[in-house]
Amino acid sequence: MNQLITTSDGSHTIFVPELNEHYHSIHGAVQESKFIFINNGFDFCKADPLNIYEVGFGTGLNALLTAIKSSAGAREVNYTSIEKYPLDENIISSLNHHHFTGKAGKEIFNSIHSSPWNISVNICKNFNLKKIKGDFTVEPPSGRYDLIYFDAFGPEKQPEMWTREMFSEIAAATNKNGVLVTYSAKGEVKRNLKTCGFEVTLLPGPPGKRQIIRAVKN
Ligand SMILES: C[S@@+](CC[C@H](N)C(=O)[O-])C[C@H]1O[C@@H](n2cnc3c(N)ncnc32)[C@H](O)[C@@H]1O
Repeated sequence: MNQLITTSDGSHTIFVPELNEHYHSIHGAVQESKFIFINNGFDFCKADPLNIYEVGFGTGLNALLTAIKSSAGAREVNYTSIEKYPLDENIISSLNHHHFTGKAGKEIFNSIHSSPWNISVNICKNFNLKKIKGDFTVEPPSGRYDLIYFDAFGPEKQPEMWTREMFSEIAAATNKNGVLVTYSAKGEVKRNLKTCGFEVTLLPGPPGKRQIIRAVKN
């Protein structure tokens, strides 16, 4: 059964005993998401409007941080996220992620989680969300995207999510100069991305992680 855990920055993550895996870094969930997906993804990618695709909606933390950022900016953001195992409402209502996102955080957090699956809805200024209830390995992205948040469980735990075939599906849905960010800097992930037409850069990671990947579609 999923367990709520408090990470080093005080923000929550979830531990999945069956996989022996956390949803985020135990060194700081909010800190990690901000560093990888916002600072090195959202801020780096200059597309306007910005179409984002996320693998693994999970707790909605990346969606929340992106919505807050979008509402404070000028770009229209369309955020599509796929999730095979939506979390129970009781665990979602226990999450403290909105404590880290200022005054507007709670309302946006609630809107993100109460929004229906499989249709696009406006959550707040400049942020539209489409949560897809589905399996990424059988339902890869169908639209066109500028920024990919690749946030599956680790390649050791779910190798089927990180294959060359899956990155080739991602590549086909990514615009030229589109950006992919992920927390795994494993050699095989790097090679698969390169084979699928991405130029891969290794960046220093957040606390507890030596390196992360940012890849740009050729
Ligand atoms: C590392 S967590 C994602 C964390 C999330 N981005 C967040 O902000 O909380 C990985 C997520 O991928 C989901 N997942 C696992 N297998 C999947 C699949 N085949 N298709 C779609 N989602 C999957 C898990 O249920 C989990 O929510």
